[in-house]
Amino acid sequence: MPATAAFDDPTQLPRHVAIIMDGNGRWAEQRGKFRVSGHKAGVKSVRAAVSFAHQLKLDALTLFAFSSENWRRPEDEVSALMSLFIAVLGSEVRKLHRNNIRLRVIGEHRGFSEHLQRKIADAEALTAANTGLTLNIAANYGGRWDITQACRRAAEQVAAGELNPADITEHHLGSLMSMADLTEVDLLIRTGGEQRISNFLLWQLAYAELHFTPVLWPDFDEAAFSEAIAAFVGRERRFGCTGEQIRALAEGRGIGNRD
Ligand code: IPE
Ligand code: IPE
Ligand code: MG
Repeated sequence: MPATAAFDDPTQLPRHVAIIMDGNGRWAEQRGKFRVSGHKAGVKSVRAAVSFAHQLKLDALTLFAFSSENWRRPEDEVSALMSLFIAVLGSEVRKLHRNNIRLRVIGEHRGFSEHLQRKIADAEALTAANTGLTLNIAANYGGRWDITQACRRAAEQVAAGELNPADITEHHLGSLMSMADLTEVDLLIRTGGEQRISNFLLWQLAYAELHFTPVLWPDFDEAAFSEAIAAFVGRERRFGCTGEQIRALAEGRGIGNRD
């Protein structure tokens, strides 16, 4: 039975899944190898996760590939990661395009070499009109950077006389954050056993369900992804309401609140 058979009711599935792909270094170290071989092994898990998200017809999959803090790593690891990023963009983009997948890279592109920035821009342009899964790769991304760039843009709008400070609302700032045009993140998965956000999506995770698994990223396969989705399906999301209100909503009854 395909794993997807357990997820027949698409209304129960998350629409947008984000993943902190952690544990590559430990995976390699456990095998007596260099950390970079763990990053290379992680590429096949990226392929598997994208293909599963595509099969499940999710709206969006957002993968944390390189944080704004990962520049602190040893220089040879950083440069190996950049080379891997360039190589993977080169080898995978056409396949993504054939599958109607739209690729976006979120984060501060200016931190990358011009060569990589060009590759990213080309890949985004090639796939921009695709209507299937949106695949966001978070690279040189930090949740605090994202909130800061949104605030800076709002300040620029005020300085240009286009915006009144009173109109800097949650809704307006939200519209300036990365991925503002996509469905909200429903489910965050972190592999590798740590239970923290590590400056990933701070604003966008406000009401996401969190799933932590000890599985190291290179071992994260369809079964592990299915397990995370099954855990999500079993949860009740209340968005500040009571459980009774949510059940009433699901049954089409009113929830008797002030909205
Ligand atoms: C995640 O794996 C990949 C990146 C941060 C680029 P790690 O490299 O953090 O692996 P561990 O946590 O050291 O095992
Ligand atoms: C988070 O993992 C970043 C990515 C997976 C890209 P880290 O391994 O960098 O996080 P910390 O350092 O353990 O918090
Ligand atoms: Mg790590």
